[in-house]
Amino acid sequence: MDKIVIRGGAALRGTVALSGSKNATLPIMMAAVLTDEPVLIHNVPRLRDVSTAIDLLAGLGVEARWTGDHDLELCAARISSHEAPYELVKTMRASFVVLGPLLARAGRARVSTPGGCAIGARPVNLHIVGIRALGARIQMRNGYVEAHAPRLTGARIWLDMPSVGATENIMMAAVRARGLSIIENAAREPEVQDLARMLCAMGAQIRGIGTHVLEIEGVERLHGTEHHVIPDRIEAGSLMVAAAITGGDLFIREAPTAHLEAVIAKLVETGAEVAPGEGGLRVSRSAPMRPVELRTLPYPGFPTDLQAQMMALLTQASGTSVISETIFENRFMHALELLRMGADIVMKGPTAVIRGPAHLSGAPVMATDLRASMSLILAGLSAENTTEVSRVYHLDRGYEALDQKLKSVGAQIERVSE
Ligand code: UD1
Repeated sequence: MDKIVIRGGAALRGTVALSGSKNATLPIMMAAVLTDEPVLIHNVPRLRDVSTAIDLLAGLGVEARWTGDHDLELCAARISSHEAPYELVKTMRASFVVLGPLLARAGRARVSTPGGCAIGARPVNLHIVGIRALGARIQMRNGYVEAHAPRLTGARIWLDMPSVGATENIMMAAVRARGLSIIENAAREPEVQDLARMLCAMGAQIRGIGTHVLEIEGVERLHGTEHHVIPDRIEAGSLMVAAAITGGDLFIREAPTAHLEAVIAKLVETGAEVAPGEGGLRVSRSAPMRPVELRTLPYPGFPTDLQAQMMALLTQASGTSVISETIFENRFMHALELLRMGADIVMKGPTAVIRGPAHLSGAPVMATDLRASMSLILAGLSAENTTEVSRVYHLDRGYEALDQKLKSVGAQIERVSE
């Protein structure tokens, strides 16, 4: 198993490029199931989660072919299986969104439920309520959701919560249903919008993209298309924090400024300088940092996927910061590892109080999930001495060549095999 070894203290300087968004790519790959024609997806990040999605689709009979470094062709000319097995779904929760497109295309689907997850219970009840409303017969058996529907029928669906995955799953089922579907309180994350745009390019009729109400007029069939995935706003935010925590100066090429407003606002509040420029975003910091209060919220609020990284940053602000995590109930596991590096963090339920500036010193630490691993790397970049982050397979699920990208802007970072 690989680990990442960091010698802290170097200010990061230079230009760094972003990969395509992981959270947009995964559902977009699942959308390939909706048509028997090939779809060509550009700007696909080379990540472990993408390989898992390819394996899952291959199991259904979908052919996948890399036509370039980041260009992936998928063709579901024939669906040969209706099952997404536990072994794959348990390693990647996003696999569950294959339920909607598979059911819409093939009339039946058997998809394992994802089970527990390090950052909270993460149920799929909203996915199921929505797909059932479209007329599917659904049974839960042996840990699997078994769904049947010769032809789905449009319906009005109200989501109790603007769930990203549920919105994507229901939207992909509704595009081929008979008649009009309306999803209310839909998620409006940029990744949901990117999927909706790809579906429209395949012939779907979706109104209200980017709003909380999606109106979908079902069509008989969808066709192949080409799509360019949006840049990863979470990778961008992580690199912005890297610039700020090291007192460095990074130009992040193609950073999607419009998708990062909440993140930019919080970084500016800490005293970092953020300047949108030609083709990207420049982030630097020279002054000491101020503490902030922040609350994670659905888009356009501050993303939960950057909460762990912000916590690492706020250990270096002078004063008391408060983070409230409102999306996932158990997403402070990185705090326990940050404490081992010398941070002063007190947690009470969904709130963490961070007192700074703490003198961080390197330690062996363990990544517990994808974004937690990034927060430990960020802490390691600003800590004294050497930090060793183990279980980096979490990192490889969602950050493409991160160690190389950080190294190219001056980080002293190595990946070593244990
Ligand atoms: C997606 C992202 C993940 C991000 C999250 C929130 C992908 C592949 N993953 O995850 O990185 O952290 O959005 O922005 O895109 N919930 C229910 N019932 C459901 C579904 C969700 O109660 O059926 C709850 C969840 O437990 C959570 C909240 O809704 O508390 C939001 O979850 P959701 O938006 O569904 O997250 P994911 O789609 O799993």
